[in-house]
Amino acid sequence: MTRILSGIKPTGQLTLGNYIGALKHFKDFQDSGEVFIFIADLHALTLPIDPKFLNDNTRDLAAFYLASGLDPKKSTIFVQSSVSAHSELNSILQNYLYMGELSRMTQFKEKSAKMKDSAIGLGLFAYPVLMACDILLYDADIVPVGEDQVQHVEITRDLANRINKRYGDILVVPNYKVNKVGARIMSLSDPTVKMSKSDPKGDIFLKDDLNTMRKKIMSAVTDSGSEVKYDKENKPGVSNLLTIYASLKEISIEEAEKHFEGYRYGDFKREVADAVVEEMGPFKARYEEIIANKSYLEVLRIGQERASQVANKTLKRVQKAVGLLDVDGE
Ligand code: TYM
Repeated sequence: MTRILSGIKPTGQLTLGNYIGALKHFKDFQDSGEVFIFIADLHALTLPIDPKFLNDNTRDLAAFYLASGLDPKKSTIFVQSSVSAHSELNSILQNYLYMGELSRMTQFKEKSAKMKDSAIGLGLFAYPVLMACDILLYDADIVPVGEDQVQHVEITRDLANRINKRYGDILVVPNYKVNKVGARIMSLSDPTVKMSKSDPKGDIFLKDDLNTMRKKIMSAVTDSGSEVKYDKENKPGVSNLLTIYASLKEISIEEAEKHFEGYRYGDFKREVADAVVEEMGPFKARYEEIIANKSYLEVLRIGQERASQVANKTLKRVQKAVGLLDVDGE
């Protein structure tokens, strides 16, 4: 059976970008494959974060996973730090990714560019190692992610191939899955940059109320001209809204363009806002229902158990292959 694995970091507030690029699609795999979805709380520590915020956000993300339609009977939902194999494999595999390749990672370059050297933690630099461990521990075949995470899956592939070449075929080499539409939702205030959890102006947060979401779409930056056309270079704002609409309606960009032929920007935005509200309304209602009863967190305990069973097997395989002595083994 195909194994699918993905995760989200509980930093900042979840955005419509996270929803469209990743969260919305996780449930699509649960009838055809074996799905592992986790909360990357150890990765959240790679930049300074308030402990209470991290803790609350972790619970919240579990509720968002459930609200997205992930069914804990079919999918394993867990917290990264609750499965110790992630950290254990990390201390082995960190020896097989190199300084040169890690320093070339886009995410590291972008994040560290804004920081003083004295404030850049080792974890931020080594971020791809832990992410590779997340993926490789579950023998994942497919990793559904937004565009910004593709490079991390690629380095995971390099690492898996490197290990397999040296120690025999012990790791599954994963593939990423990026959606044709919506793999990179842009900021509403500056559509030339990605919508990210750390950009309050240009974001739609999943926790925003529906009115705020509507207002944000209505005041999104559009472009000169009046035609609703997909043209990323010259009309990044309109193209972004078309992308949001197409991915929520699950149609192609061409179909969305056709739908809006002859529309004025104001009416166009209104319909995009309607589409957002139509999707987010029921999603938010499910989320509210879930968090009203704390017992939903039980899912994470069951997830921990199931995930550990799978992860520990891979960990043992790697430990043995590299020559670590199993003191309670045969
Ligand atoms: P994170 O938490 O930054 O983002 C979670 C998912 O949302 C996608 N995404 C977007 N998609 C479209 N448009 C956007 N503007 C946008 N912003 C974010 C991301 O691509 C991602 O799929 N390193 C990961 C978490 C992680 C992980 C893993 C993922 C840790 N280990 C193993 C997969 C497999 C991260 O920080 O995602």
